Amino acid sequence: MSNENKVKILIVDDEAGIRDVLSRKLSSAGFQCLTAPDGKDAMKLLKSDRADLVLLDVTMPGKSGAAVLKDIRKKYPDIAVIMVTAVADVQMVINLMKAGAYDYVIKPVELNVLLFSIGRALEKRRLILENREYQLHLEQKVAQQTDKIRQAFLNAITSLANALEAKDKYTHGHSKRVTETAVAIAREMAMAPDTIEKIELAGLLHDIGKIGISEAILNKPAKLTPEEFQHVQLHSEIGGRILKPIIKDKEILAMIRHHHEYYDGSGYPDGLSGGPLTQETGDPAAAKAKSKRLSPCTMALSVADAYDAMTTDRPYRPAMTTEAACAELERDKGKQFCPDTVDAFVRHLGKAGKTI
Ligand SMILES: [Fe+2]
Repeated sequence: MSNENKVKILIVDDEAGIRDVLSRKLSSAGFQCLTAPDGKDAMKLLKSDRADLVLLDVTMPGKSGAAVLKDIRKKYPDIAVIMVTAVADVQMVINLMKAGAYDYVIKPVELNVLLFSIGRALEKRRLILENREYQLHLEQKVAQQTDKIRQAFLNAITSLANALEAKDKYTHGHSKRVTETAVAIAREMAMAPDTIEKIELAGLLHDIGKIGISEAILNKPAKLTPEEFQHVQLHSEIGGRILKPIIKDKEILAMIRHHHEYYDGSGYPDGLSGGPLTQETGDPAAAKAKSKRLSPCTMALSVADAYDAMTTDRPYRPAMTTEAACAELERDKGKQFCPDTVDAFVRHLGKAGKTI
């Protein structure tokens, strides 16, 4: 075995004779040995060289074995330390073990006893290192698995949304386009990255509740009757209900349930409104009212959804131009749409080079 692969033992003892004997015997037993006469030299050596195990004399001039043990544990916690003592004082041994020594041997050292102790200490060290490595990889593995599960879930949901849209040539690609536009608005409004991630999911799923709506009504090539419109309106509530058991994030669920709410409170299903409250009173009723307001991300989704609906062909009308759709958004600022959100969208269109 090359020296590099051998277990390296540092022998620290103030008696040169003991250092030499131990070094010779352990080298013949297959270890690679280093020696130091005191704690100071030992620490210097450990700085420049690797050691797997230290045989540490308890009684030395200068720094005691106990003090050196403390230094080694602090700076090199992966090194196994076996104390070598001439006096078998039970209390002292207990203290050394408490301070992190793996084992102790009594002088004069018997080779068999020492080899047994070294074997045990190295095995314990191996298990500790392995366990740490396992923990580290376990955390990485859990993170990777969580990511995979999330991705698989997203893929499944996206397929579901695609399957839903495939039934209807008019809404083909709607969810994807709405997501892209809502994300662009969110970026324009400097929303936080985790909010944007939520918008991505909500955008893909916002119309998933249409699964529960009659296909004949969804594809009706004419304007809907009031009853039919009421039936279609149920899709945002149904979507929220379908996803509640699998999506725990309240903001995402709120975006799906409320993507047809109006800024002025005249939308559906709950008549929530947007914009800041006129006064912050701090009382619980006011806080509750605030929690019932439309969030900026819901309002971004609502603008994106309406814009895409306007600019694509529908069974009962052709697609509107970008200019006409923007004029519509401007007209409904403060009514259906949040003014700041519409402004952000228009800015985004300008930056994207789309004429408005
Ligand atoms: Fe919708």
